[in-house]
Amino acid sequence: MALITKKIKGTEDVLPKQSYRWQFIENVMREEARIYGFKEIRTPVFEHTELFARGVGQTTDVVQKEMYTFTTKGNESVTLRPEGTAGAARAVLEHALPNEGLPIKASYFVSCYRYEKPQAGRLREFHQFGLEEYGTQSPVADAELICAAQSIFDRLRLKDLHLEINSIGCPTCRAEYHKALKAYFEQYKDQLCETCLSRLDKNPMRILDCKSPICSKIAEGAPRITEYLCDECKEHFASVQKYLDAAGINYIVNPTIVRGLDYYTKTVFEFVTDCIGAQGTVCGGGRYDGLIEELGGNHLPSLGFAMGMERLLMVMEKQGIEIPDFSECSLYIATMGEKAQEKAFELLHNIRECGETAETDVVGRGLRAQMKYADKIGAKYTLVIGDNELNEGFAEAKNMETGKKAKLPLDESFLDSFLNLQLSEETDTFSAVFGKDNSDVE
Ligand code: HAM
Repeated sequence: MALITKKIKGTEDVLPKQSYRWQFIENVMREEARIYGFKEIRTPVFEHTELFARGVGQTTDVVQKEMYTFTTKGNESVTLRPEGTAGAARAVLEHALPNEGLPIKASYFVSCYRYEKPQAGRLREFHQFGLEEYGTQSPVADAELICAAQSIFDRLRLKDLHLEINSIGCPTCRAEYHKALKAYFEQYKDQLCETCLSRLDKNPMRILDCKSPICSKIAEGAPRITEYLCDECKEHFASVQKYLDAAGINYIVNPTIVRGLDYYTKTVFEFVTDCIGAQGTVCGGGRYDGLIEELGGNHLPSLGFAMGMERLLMVMEKQGIEIPDFSECSLYIATMGEKAQEKAFELLHNIRECGETAETDVVGRGLRAQMKYADKIGAKYTLVIGDNELNEGFAEAKNMETGKKAKLPLDESFLDSFLNLQLSEETDTFSAVFGKDNSDVE
């Protein structure tokens, strides 16, 4: 029985009182996606296992160790998406979007599933916001994408986030690099973990992001990809940096960044913070020029990034960044008696129709308890309606912050009177703060 009321390890609930935090950052991301010309794509939470095996890569930790894979009643192997890129690429191909013109620019919010060891900032179900762009090899696109991520962080007022970039080359330069890596790691064959041993022949680059302490220690001395880049990749990387410089984006080149997924080529980047512990990568991305071809399409150079929503919120909390709660109640109408309740119901209907949050009692509380509740939900104004108010045709609205009271008519002019009251008191607050009449302020 206890299991029914326990969430699965590595998952988190977002409760009603916290959801405004999510909605706030989602709105900023949506807005920034719009500004940069990205339109939302929504894909299923599960896909054929083969998609991730081919797309993300057979020798990655994600595919080898972390996927939630199961066989359906129809005997198909399906997997809960461990990330958003492969599914979006699949949809782009399946719906032949390249025929509609390039580039294709897609944004998404996805829940992702990875069977990792849960710890602060590392969950088994987590959420990402991502941007993907298909059909461009221009370094302008790489820089533009990084600018979009940076703008989101700036708008959220995040501090101390470092952008680290690298180039991991193309299949041509990668072949030479693989040889050098293999030769290096072969010296340590007896110390590598079993998974890395199996990677030595197939994909020695994956040893570079193994989480085992011994392998990562050995990896520190490994040759760097930057020394093996071909002329075209070098030039591309230099151009990306030139555009980032032009946009005034601060970054460091970190030759150890290789990213943990196989589809990357050329530019890779991460936004990292020190303030939330070991899982400090808030955003990761890069170019994946070969992925669409790998999935059976024509050559379509592409790129993208994804940021972890939970990690972002952790950073904001750690840095004390306040998030406004727009869901606060504007008016709570407390009632005494059935007639008053009917009146309240009618007034609330009008108020809600014009977009204000308004509430009344629905659980049969007495007046004192209603007022307590209004206080608890942070209602900006309260209004009490009883027999006296009904007879007089007026009720007193109380500003819960200042204690100021104002009489409002309980007839068809109620809505206008309430809105005017709010506006005039907001204006008073403005004048009190800025010490002057704001009539000349637009
Ligand atoms: P990733 O680096 O695996 O890349 O994940 C992107 C972000 O998701 C990370 O930087 C982190 O913030 C968050 N994240 C990853 N794993 C977890 C976890 N277990 N718990 C909490 N947050 C996590 C990708 O997924 C690529 N698809 C990004 C991309 C898009 N590359 C090109 N386009």
